Amino acid sequence: MSDEALANLMTENRVFAPTAEFAAQANATAEMYDVARADRLQFWADQASNLQWEQPWSEILDWSDAPVSRWFVDGKINAAVNCVDRHVAAGNGDRVAIHFEGEPGDTRTITYKDLQELVCQAANGLEELGITAGDRIAIYMPMIPEAVVAMLACARVGAAHSVVFGGFSAEALRSRIEDASAKMIITSDGGFRRGSAFALKPAVDEAAAASPTIEHVLVVKRTGQDVDWNESLDIWWDDLVLKQSTAHVAQGFDSEHPLFILYTSGTTGKPKGILHTTGGYLTQAAYTHRVVFDIKPESDVYWCTADVGWITGHSYITYGPLANGATQVMYEGTPDTPHKARWWEIVEKYGVTILYTAPTAIRTFMKWGDEFPAQHDLSSIRLLGSVGEPINPEAWMWYREAIGGNNTPIVDTWWQTETGGIMISPLPGVTGCKPGSAMGPLPGINAEIFDDAGQAVGNGSGGYLVLTEPWPGMLRGIWGDLERFKETYWSRFSGMYFAGDGAKWDEDGAIWLLGRVDDVMNVSGHRISTTEVESALVSHPMVAEAAVVGASDETTGQGIVAFVILRSGSEDGPGVAKILRDHVAKEIGAIAKPRQIMIVAELPKTRSGKIMRRLLRDVAEHRTMGDVTTLADPTVMNLISQGIDSGPNED
Ligand code: WTA
Repeated sequence: MSDEALANLMTENRVFAPTAEFAAQANATAEMYDVARADRLQFWADQASNLQWEQPWSEILDWSDAPVSRWFVDGKINAAVNCVDRHVAAGNGDRVAIHFEGEPGDTRTITYKDLQELVCQAANGLEELGITAGDRIAIYMPMIPEAVVAMLACARVGAAHSVVFGGFSAEALRSRIEDASAKMIITSDGGFRRGSAFALKPAVDEAAAASPTIEHVLVVKRTGQDVDWNESLDIWWDDLVLKQSTAHVAQGFDSEHPLFILYTSGTTGKPKGILHTTGGYLTQAAYTHRVVFDIKPESDVYWCTADVGWITGHSYITYGPLANGATQVMYEGTPDTPHKARWWEIVEKYGVTILYTAPTAIRTFMKWGDEFPAQHDLSSIRLLGSVGEPINPEAWMWYREAIGGNNTPIVDTWWQTETGGIMISPLPGVTGCKPGSAMGPLPGINAEIFDDAGQAVGNGSGGYLVLTEPWPGMLRGIWGDLERFKETYWSRFSGMYFAGDGAKWDEDGAIWLLGRVDDVMNVSGHRISTTEVESALVSHPMVAEAAVVGASDETTGQGIVAFVILRSGSEDGPGVAKILRDHVAKEIGAIAKPRQIMIVAELPKTRSGKIMRRLLRDVAEHRTMGDVTTLADPTVMNLISQGIDSGPNED
């Protein structure tokens, strides 16, 4: 963020205090902050007690092997039992767990009893295929209920799932399978998006063929499109799962048993397999979902618009809401299919009371205009949430006014794949909300902002966001790479978790998140590493060198801009940018396609050969260039900046 944008942000001083009406019924209380401060570990133990444990823990936290933590030591728990069976046992089997809305308009209503039967059948199916506790299973699915069923079935039998976002390429899927040595893939023929069927199975076929560890591919039929069939690997979901018994006896697993691996971009080209375990993660997912979203399972209809391929889908579609016995909406498609009021139609149809989405979506709706939400009755909404990137005050206010009827709290929730659950957020009914600020750490969470020297800064100052004490949902490591785990998060400020985000305290002590401080871009709330895109570009035979930066973008937060030097013999021409953009999509996925590719003759480098991304960012954002005196050849930047005005590349 530029200094000017930051200065504008910090002048925001409106505070929307909780209404008496909301406060009177809120799950959260002001005392929670005091209770957690007085005895943080006991506070977390109290939250964990809301879950069903097969065996109690003997110790709340073992931090002796820091930075690898163990929470609720010796406790035994089954995540699927907590998300499904115990609600049925409590007499809530008829409550709707999932209102599914397919993009073409097909719907399914799945009660907790239905979900229990499906999860048990899927668990039996996995066991029939020889899956046992400790195995890893890749899940590559569209947004259909079977994605959630598959995750819970893995959890039920103790296999760690590794969900790979359906928009990622075959190569991205393959490399994640390889890294985790996954034994099987759960997928579907395809899904519906933007008015037509897209295919998933061809990418799975390609990845499976190149993955010697894969023994089975379980395929849900969603679209009915033609698929290639490999008799030795493939099996239809209906032929395996739906033939199983709807009863399955689950066992409790150690609290530290791996629950899932989720890959996220780091500052190198290789994604990090973030490892989460069972008891602590579930405790934080359920607690945060209960207090931040103020969930009332008997009456609320909750809708989180994320994809299960991201951490938000893991914690706030699958584990948090289901652990709390909530009723939720799940929507398969895009917001503008078949018309731009589709989300608001869904809100009205199901009487959605809590909506959780990303600033990119909010800014897009803002651009489309107020007339679309105005076509529907949104008065059921009583709480709004935002996640994934900083939300600008203008978008925050529009969200409140156009969607929230000007009277709902908005929780701006800061967290990461690594943190497992929400860390910084207002508590609705307790904390006032300022447009654009995530306010403060939740009860049980300790955050500070440090300067370069590792000193905590005070109100009115900024620096690096640091989490100073362990928390139950924290990652337990990077799959197979303890050193990288220590180096990435724990070495910058000794013994404390470095989040990679810049932040600032305002004069009132509220936290403002300022974006990444490393080489990770945030495009529509999705983390993409500059190095990963650079590696994809240089893997093309035409490319000699590439430098990638995240340039600020009005809608998507950041957009990817690539500066590319072609190999001698490769000519720049009208089709080159398209070839390279498609190549990145093939290597990583469409979300990583650069917004703009500029073919340049040179890249700005220091005398020691380091690319000066700061200058490229200046060019990409049309700013006056910063200091160029450390460049080996200062004239390089003139040439580069002359080319930028050619604008974004078209698809
Ligand atoms: C950014 C998504 C500002 C941040 C849950 C973080 C945010 C990264 C917010 C994690 C927010 C997430 N305000 N920035 N409310 N929420 N971020 O792992 O840069 O996909 O480090 O997890 O998103 O992205 P991830």
